[in-house]
Order: sequence, then C-alpha cells, then structure tokens
Amino acid sequence: MSASARPSRVGVPTTPDELLTTTRSVRLRLDLSRPVDLDRVRECVEIALQAPNGGNTQRWHWLVVAEDGLRQRIAEVYRRSFEARYPPTAAADGASAGGVSDRMLAGGRHLAEHLHEVPVLVIPCLELGSRRLTAANQAGVWGSLLPAAWSYMLAARARGLGTAWTTVHLDAEQEVADLLGLPDDVRQGALIPTAHVLGDGFGPAPRRPVDSVLHLDGWGGTGWGGGGA
Ligand SMILES: Cc1cc2nc3c(=O)[nH]c(=O)nc-3n(C[C@H](O)[C@H](O)[C@H](O)COP(=O)(O)O)c2cc1C
Repeated sequence: MSASARPSRVGVPTTPDELLTTTRSVRLRLDLSRPVDLDRVRECVEIALQAPNGGNTQRWHWLVVAEDGLRQRIAEVYRRSFEARYPPTAAADGASAGGVSDRMLAGGRHLAEHLHEVPVLVIPCLELGSRRLTAANQAGVWGSLLPAAWSYMLAARARGLGTAWTTVHLDAEQEVADLLGLPDDVRQGALIPTAHVLGDGFGPAPRRPVDSVLHLDGWGGTGWGGGGA
C-alpha cells in the first residue's frame, strides 16, 4: 500500500487516496448520543450533486430524516426486513446467511437493532418519470444516483461523520415510500445512517487481490504479470 493510503491516526483523511481507502461501513461505532448538524448533512449532499449522472438530468432527490417518530417507523421497517433476510437463529455459514461473514452479520444486526437511535437517515432517491425498472440491465438507470450516494458518504467521512450503505429495507420499499410520501415514480437507492463516529483510525479493509479481478484485454487476459487467479 502506498504511503498516501495509510490509515489516518487522527480520524479525518488527509489525502484523496486515504479518503477512498478508509471510508468504511460504520455500524458498531456510530455515536448514537451526539446530534448531527443538519447543515453539515446538507453540505455533504451539495457535494454529492457534483457526481456524474446520465444526461446531467439530475433526477435525484435526497430525503434526510431527522424527526424522531419518522426515524422510529423507518427503523422498524428496516429491522423487520433485516430479520426476514437474516433470521436471528441464522448462522453466518454461507448457506443461511447468503455468504455474509459473521463479523458483517454481527455489525448488521447491531445496526438493525439501533437504527432508530441513529440521528440522521439519508435516503437517496431517483425520479424515474415515465421510465420503468425492467429486467434489463439497470446500470444506466441506477448509475444516475449511486455514484452520488457514494460521494455523500465520502464527504461525510471527510467531515468526521460515519455512514453505512444499506439497502435491506428495499425489501419493503413501498412501506418507507408511504412513510415519506414519495410519488409513485420515485424509487429509493439506499438508506444511509449518518452519525458522528466513536474513536478514529479507520483503515483499508480486506478485499480480493487486484489480480484476481483485473482483466487486461479480455476476460482471459494475463498481461498484468500473470493476471487472473
Ligand atoms: C448494494 C449494497 C447493499 C448493502 N446493503 C447493506 C445492508 O442492507 N445492511 C448493511 O448493514 N450493510 C449493507 N451494505 C454494506 C456492505 O455490507 C459493505 O459495503 C461491505 O461489507 C464492505 O464493507 P467495508 O467497506 O466496511 O469493508 C451494502 C453495501 C452495498 C454496496
């Protein structure tokens, strides 16, 4: 790892590479007792609006949920969806938990149990207009929202806020849409809990080696010193 990607000891990343390699899913270390300044959230969303999007049509909408009762009701939907997908008795053995690791499952369960305590939930949405989500490849649709959602998370991290990308509530998307009063053609892309973090020292996470996923000049390409695993 290059020096620029080493984890910061003081919390907030100081270089672009460090920001990109240390923005983790924060679930266990969200500070549930410290309020989040909504102006800071607004600033992060404003930065996110610089992300690429198809035709620069900017059909995104950002639902920021800070009100207690609404957070409770959305968290309830999330918890139910999480428990349906990962029943409390499920061992994280790959078969029952879809290959999810024990560590991730424990963190995910903790978040599901405490989501109502997270001060701010951000739900990036996409206005489809007359378009429909079909079984065809949807990259061209969601590509107009998800890069911006990641930008939001990076901007939050740069300001000392922790986030986690979550989608499990989408199993009951309509329930949350009803709670938020979303129009029928507005679909949710994620739910991003946002809070201050406890402690610091986030670092790069384990990932598959680059050579096992990198293909030069076609799937079978081996030009990169031996190529795929
Ligand atoms: C499309 C997508 C859906 C995800 N859904 C959830 C979710 O519903 N709940 C959750 O706790 N984490 C969810 N995650 C977070 C992943 O578990 C996380 O990105 C992955 O474990 C890597 O985490 P790390 O970057 O901290 O190593 C999701 C991430 C993505 C990209």
